[in-house]
Amino acid sequence: MKPIVLASDHGGYELKEKLKTYLMYKDYRVEDVGTHSADTTDYPIWVKKGVSQVLADNTYGIFVCGAGIGVSIAANRNKGIRAAVVHSEDTARLAREHNNANVLCLGGRFLTESQAEKIVDIFLETKFDQRHVKRVEMLEG
Ligand code: RB5
Repeated sequence: MKPIVLASDHGGYELKEKLKTYLMYKDYRVEDVGTHSADTTDYPIWVKKGVSQVLADNTYGIFVCGAGIGVSIAANRNKGIRAAVVHSEDTARLAREHNNANVLCLGGRFLTESQAEKIVDIFLETKFDQRHVKRVEMLEG
């Protein structure tokens, strides 16, 4: 089974740890690239590690910061990464169906544990709708 790559800064650390437990309980293999404490740090460091792992394993990443915005900006600077800031179950579904997102970006300061778990479930279970393939391919041009 492919791993799910987790990354966060301090703003997302607590939620990342909760999601790690949740995903392991659901039998996913988790690759946590850090951060490894709640100490203040810089999200580009952890996104860089997370992106490398996502591309190496050709799998999904879940990146968490305070708002989800910093990690998404950093992740989307990399070819092959389609990172989406998601704040609801509907946007989780659309990020996969329409955008074939491979990195889910969450705001640890804006989501409850239960909201985040539902979002993660939908993101991991929803398939890309091939009707949108041309647009997504254009992103790599
Ligand atoms: C850190 O305080 C915060 O700026 C960061 O976690 C993130 O929300 C940035 O977008």
